[in-house]
Amino acid sequence: MKAAVIGTGFMGAVHGQAIQSNGIELLGFAGSSLQKADSLASTFRGAKGFTSIDALLDAQPDVLHVCTPNSTHLQFAKAAIDRGISVIVEKPLATNVEDAQALLEMSASAKVTAVPFVYRYHAMVLELRKRIAENTENNLWLLHGSYLQDWLAASMTTNWRSNSAAGGPTRAFGDIGVHWFDLMEFVTGHRVTKLNALMAKVHKTDTEDGALVTFETDKGAVGSAVISQASAGRSNRLWFSFDGTQESYSFDQENPETGWVGTLGDNKIVRRDPNAQTGLAVRSNSLPAGHPQGYQTCFNDFVSDVYSTHAGAPKSEVMPTFADGLRGAQLADAVLQSVKSKGWVEVGNMPAMVNGK
Ligand SMILES: NC(=O)c1ccc[n+]([C@@H]2O[C@H](COP(=O)([O-])OP(=O)(O)OC[C@H]3O[C@@H](n4cnc5c(N)ncnc54)[C@H](O)[C@@H]3O)[C@@H](O)[C@H]2O)c1
Repeated sequence: MKAAVIGTGFMGAVHGQAIQSNGIELLGFAGSSLQKADSLASTFRGAKGFTSIDALLDAQPDVLHVCTPNSTHLQFAKAAIDRGISVIVEKPLATNVEDAQALLEMSASAKVTAVPFVYRYHAMVLELRKRIAENTENNLWLLHGSYLQDWLAASMTTNWRSNSAAGGPTRAFGDIGVHWFDLMEFVTGHRVTKLNALMAKVHKTDTEDGALVTFETDKGAVGSAVISQASAGRSNRLWFSFDGTQESYSFDQENPETGWVGTLGDNKIVRRDPNAQTGLAVRSNSLPAGHPQGYQTCFNDFVSDVYSTHAGAPKSEVMPTFADGLRGAQLADAVLQSVKSKGWVEVGNMPAMVNGK
């Protein structure tokens, strides 16, 4: 199978590695200039630079990977889907609900459409998810955590994300808050029904540096999440604690080799270990215990799922799709509406499936 990537920045390179680590032919990259595309392509064996999205699609990839600024996702995804090409679109799927909904509807004419909410693929995340599902007597009632970064903490740092025309109307929530909420809903099986949000800016930018969100779920839990891109010392700290009356479960993305299970007796540190884990977590253990794996491994497994589905295998329940991307857009929209109205907002329900996808 053949892959093509549009976007030559951080994500373009991560996708390139995931493609080649799965033994998929990487045709090459297109970016905002041929020089950038050539430069990234030169770091991958056999890959070349392309001048435009059309030139890239003319090379007939099985899957297009869209790794460009958020406001461009719709046009590039549509160009691929119009040719019947499967597509991975980076999160956030789109910068508003309408565009995300349109992409979900278009997805009916592509074999696979996926959005890399890749934290789902940490072996420890899958292990905790399994324990939560199995402990049916546990009343999981308090779902809380944070996703904190510091790369936009310095006042002089600029990035396309800080410009709402390129990044969308929410930055911290739209960029990383959607990851936290995707992970929370995926791991617990709860869905947020209503939320109340506050946003804060520490710099003079278009969009928020941080957001605080309290919420209720369809299974009667309450929760809160703190999101920030300006918290010194927090590089990429996605952390959660899902607390129940019998057991509580905690995970820190910066230390993904272990998880924490709290009980009313002894607490346990669970370590990633292919010999100790069962179920979906087994596949995500690509290395023996004590040999740390992490973010790139998650991407490799995600890309493996996308290409297997493209080749006709049944869709893995872990693989996030455009429906999950739309869910992120609905949550982001509810957060923006809540900030505007200074009150609680109902979150849009999932739309009907489109042609079974
Ligand atoms: N899933 C994840 O964990 C994760 C992590 C980081 C970023 N992302 C997402 O990936 C996407 C890219 O983010 P990034 O961090 O790689 O950004 P980046 O700034 O590092 O790279 C963006 C690239 O897009 C190219 N580009 C910009 N406009 C273009 C256009 N009109 N046509 C073609 N190329 C264009 C730029 O030249 C650049 O190479 C974003 O949507 C972001 O939200 C996802």
